[in-house]
Amino acid sequence: MSTAYLNGEYLPLDECKVSVLDRGFIFGDAIYELLPVYAKKPFYLESHLKRLYRSMQQIDIANPYNEEEWKLIINTLIEKSGLNDLYVYIQVTRGVAPRDHAFPPDTPPTVFAMIGAWPKQDSKFYREGLTAITVEDMRWGRCDIKVTSLLANVMKKQQAVENSAHEAIFIRDGNVLEGSATNVFVVKDDKVWTAPTNHMILPGISRDVVVQLMSENNIPFEETAPTEAQINSADEIWITSSTKECMPVTTLNGQAVGNGKPGPLWLQVFDLFQAAKQN
Ligand code: PDD
Repeated sequence: MSTAYLNGEYLPLDECKVSVLDRGFIFGDAIYELLPVYAKKPFYLESHLKRLYRSMQQIDIANPYNEEEWKLIINTLIEKSGLNDLYVYIQVTRGVAPRDHAFPPDTPPTVFAMIGAWPKQDSKFYREGLTAITVEDMRWGRCDIKVTSLLANVMKKQQAVENSAHEAIFIRDGNVLEGSATNVFVVKDDKVWTAPTNHMILPGISRDVVVQLMSENNIPFEETAPTEAQINSADEIWITSSTKECMPVTTLNGQAVGNGKPGPLWLQVFDLFQAAKQN
């Protein structure tokens, strides 16, 4: 059983217990963060910490730790895991209090963190690509905050699974926003399109990495949401996340994307991403 962290203690994961009155359980009143670790080194740690602090600040949870304390928790879990490649999941809830919608006064947040072994992708997905469906976005208006209340994402991901697909891609008012747990890039006529970071998508760190790599390597891109018509006639589709990195989607709603194979721009960005992990 891997070691986890709960409110100041390092414990075997199965010994971590929280109250049923925890607001994370009762209301989904909580935020989370997930960061990848390669060769024991967190990837884009500063960006993940910045997003963690912003998530807390946006829902008015006072950050309980300073930067050094957060880094110590992350590094201690990495060390105790004995793994080289892994991810660290961190969750902060508004704490334990009698059930009442309003924020409870003077309540310390619950801080929990665990690790997971790196979810290595089947190599066939790099050769053949993934499958996705498009779905109507029925989420709330603050998708930019990394909250644990993910019911809409969970239900749409399940719809994808029931349709033998790997991801559900949200469309709102004809605009392609993001996946249930990924950001989305669409290639059309040698240009890459991805939704801008605003309240309608999670500002993915892997998305940032890909945008930075494209800009450094003169790959034409635009941070404008691709339209439904563009994704339906895309030459390539990619999805990004901290556990998927950058993966090609080659089937959308049962139809081949482009020629049905991972495309040349994806391969270029994938190679750049792999190189960035070595730094
Ligand atoms: N999900 N959009 C949504 C809705 C997400 O849940 C995620 C990540 C992303 C990609 O963000 P990043 O590149 O920072 O991982 C975009 C994580 C991995 C999860 O919930 O497990």
